[in-house]
Order: sequence, then structure tokens, then C-alpha cells
Amino acid sequence: MNPLQHVAIIMDGNGRWGLKHKKSRNLGHKAGLNVVEQIIKESIKHKIKFLTLFAFSTENWKRPKKEINYLFSLLETFLKNKIDELNKKQIKLQIIGNKKFSKDLNKLLIDSEKKTQKNKVLQINLALNYGSKFELIEAFKKLKKSKYKFTEKNFEKYLQTKNIPDPDILIRTGNTQRLSNFLLWQIAYAEVFFEKKLWPDFNKKDFNKIIEKYKKIKRNFGNV
Ligand code: FPP
Repeated sequence: MNPLQHVAIIMDGNGRWGLKHKKSRNLGHKAGLNVVEQIIKESIKHKIKFLTLFAFSTENWKRPKKEINYLFSLLETFLKNKIDELNKKQIKLQIIGNKKFSKDLNKLLIDSEKKTQKNKVLQINLALNYGSKFELIEAFKKLKKSKYKFTEKNFEKYLQTKNIPDPDILIRTGNTQRLSNFLLWQIAYAEVFFEKKLWPDFNKKDFNKIIEKYKKIKRNFGNV
């Protein structure tokens, strides 16, 4: 049985779900947030230590302003209402990505990180304004300026995921088989699961099925 420390998820399909059900992409995002809460609970049950969620990419700024504003208002409300509950459950929140938001949102994100920084049950890495290519270029630049040699270990010190083990599992919902500039370095040896379901339809049963499958995979890491 493979050990499982880290699950990363590309939560795709909210917009299509919203259009299909209620004729509004934003309602899909709202429904998607309920699934996030379910998967957090389930991750704790499985004793998963790291859950990385792709909530907003560097490319998502191309979306209509109304949708962007809605997504950030959802995030704001979620943090304001739920951070104490997350803290009680010993969940640590860490943002990966570039915190270039409004002053208020930046403060809320930093305060939420600070409040939960000592928690040990589950670390949620919320990828916000995150893009892997940008992360890699920034890390290269920083390593070049440093006194360290170009090695994998030294390079990883400059990634936004430093001190976080690489994902064992990458899940992408929404019936699309691409990586969308997400954790390109870190998923080198992840087991990848593409799910047909749209994110708001994904549930704990689907999550558990993936984990059961993962546990039985023979992971070679290049060996035989
Ligand atoms: C991708 O679906 C989803 C996003 C860009 C946002 C993800 C956000 C949530 C799940 C809810 C908010 C989460 C938090 C933690 C506050 P899409 O809109 O690209 O779907 P589509 O492919 O059908 O258009």
C-alpha cells in the first residue's frame, strides 16, 4: 500500500455546471465551494497531510470581471466565516501564488495564514494567482543570485512549495486532460487522475475511489 501525504486538485468544471443547472457560471463556483468543504473533511479522515487546491490561476484574470469579483467575494466570505472552524480542526492554511490582490484581501489572507500557522492536522495550500511557469522563473532567478549550486534540492528551496512534499496524487475534474500550468515541477512523479465529472458533482465517494486505486498502484519512480 502506498503512503499518501499530499493530494493536489484542479477543480475544473464549475462554470459548465452552473450553466447547465442554473444558467449562471457563478452558481457553479458556489456549488464548487461546498465540494471543497467535503474534500477537506475527507482528507482529514484519510490522514492526508497536504491538500493543494487550484482556486485561481494567473490566466484566470482573462475572465469577465463579474466572475472574478464573484470568485474573490466567495473566498472572502469563506475565510471570514470559516477560519475559526478550520483553526479549531487544526488546519493550516497557506497561500501559494502571488498575493497581488486588494489591500483588504491581502490582509485577510495573511491574517488567516498567521492564525493557523502552527496547526498540524492538515495543511491546505490554496493556489491563488498561481502559475507554475512564473514560479519556476522566479525560482531560477533567486537561485542564480544565491551562493548555492544548481541542484534539484537547492532549486526547490526557492519554489512556493518549499517544505511541502511533492503531490502523490493529482486529480483534475471536468473531463479535460491537461495540466493548465499547475505544479509542473512538483508533479513529476504524481499519479494523475482525470475525472469526467464536473467539480460540483465530484463527491467523497469519487475521492475515496481514487485513493483506493492510488494505494494499489506500483510506484517505481524510474526503478523497476
Ligand atoms: C475552474 O472551473 C474553477 C475555478 C477557476 C475556481 C475554483 C473555485 C472554487 C472551487 C470555489 C471557490 C474556492 C474557494 C477555496 C473559495 P471553471 O470555471 O474553469 O469551469 P469550466 O471549465 O466549466 O469553465
